[in-house]
Amino acid sequence: MADEPLVLGIETSCDETGVGVVRGTTLLADAVASSVDEHARFGGVVPEVASRAHLEAMVPTIDRALKEAGVSAKDLDGIAVTAGPGLAGALLVGVSAAKAYAYALGKPLYGVNHLASHICVDQLEHGALPEPTMALLVSGGHSSLLLSTDITSDVRPMGATIDDAAGEAFDKVARVLNLGFPGGPVIDRYAKEGDPRAIAFPRGLTGPRDAAYDFSFSGLKTAVARWIEAKRAAGEEVPVRDVAASFQEAVVDVLTRKAVRACRDEGVDHLMIGGGVAANSRLRALAQERCEAAGIRLRVPRPKLCTDNGAMVAALGAEMVARNRAASDWDLSADSSLPVTDPHVPGNGHTHAHSHDAHDHVHEISKENLYS
Ligand code: KG4
Ligand code: ZN
Repeated sequence: MADEPLVLGIETSCDETGVGVVRGTTLLADAVASSVDEHARFGGVVPEVASRAHLEAMVPTIDRALKEAGVSAKDLDGIAVTAGPGLAGALLVGVSAAKAYAYALGKPLYGVNHLASHICVDQLEHGALPEPTMALLVSGGHSSLLLSTDITSDVRPMGATIDDAAGEAFDKVARVLNLGFPGGPVIDRYAKEGDPRAIAFPRGLTGPRDAAYDFSFSGLKTAVARWIEAKRAAGEEVPVRDVAASFQEAVVDVLTRKAVRACRDEGVDHLMIGGGVAANSRLRALAQERCEAAGIRLRVPRPKLCTDNGAMVAALGAEMVARNRAASDWDLSADSSLPVTDPHVPGNGHTHAHSHDAHDHVHEISKENLYS
């Protein structure tokens, strides 16, 4: 609908420079420039390399998104940006760019939470989020179970990993198997040809006295590494496909078991799964199976919307506009440990009004020189 908020979203919390444009819950553009190849030889994301790549990719990616969406920057109703959590230097590039564009164009600025954005993105795929929704967010940086009754104001942490993130475990196991980085997609592929029951790897934090909704993947990762070492020490061949399948099964078994249990305990009948690991084919299949058995509706966005992207930030920004949430102030700062309970960083309502004259002036300049 034409009267729904048109919002541009910027995401730079890790190694993806993402810029998306949405109108309400409709995706118009999703431009992503990734620096993942630059990190591959280090086996993980190098913050300084990521920041520099964001800086180089920012303006071209914004231009590309606007072009893809077929809209003019002056028609935007707001600019949203990931304010945290994430890598401090990387976040700073996005926040600075968002401020510059918002200020120059005279648009409200919305600093939003990366995790809430991962949940909200599903509106672009499956329409308005049911309230409440349980969300399982699994990526290289996070593994959390979150319960939300209103994605703009109420996100409650149910549980999280106490050590490695699920994606991190995939990446580390892939490194031990010499499969390259990132490890998730390649383990997923190898696992399809392996036996998930070949090796009984441990399921972390699943004992009767363990925290019901927290995760732990570090013990699993070590168990896999030891198992492989022992094989190699004995001069035996490592059955890569069986290791991949058995490891993957251990991860997704725990993730789905705990997510379904949280839904049941809280009486929530919608589960969404987001983050890069949501692309995992076995996770999707097992979640579907277990949700069906428990009478829970499963919502998983398409893989491109599950990994870090700007559309998810725009989606949450549009929801902030639609629900009349306060815009952020011009002194919005990147917060690498922004609490998950803060879906956005509202301002005190002063700086926007004060700088109005300045906006209008800059707006004229920008119209003539930048966006004509
Ligand atoms: O959300 P994302 O793009 O970035 C953040 O970490 O925030 O997630 C990347 C993570 C990596 O750890 C990668 O190995 C994992 O998601 N991943 C997968 C799959 N595709 C990506 N893990 C398991 N199976 C996959 N198919
Ligand atoms: Zn993420």
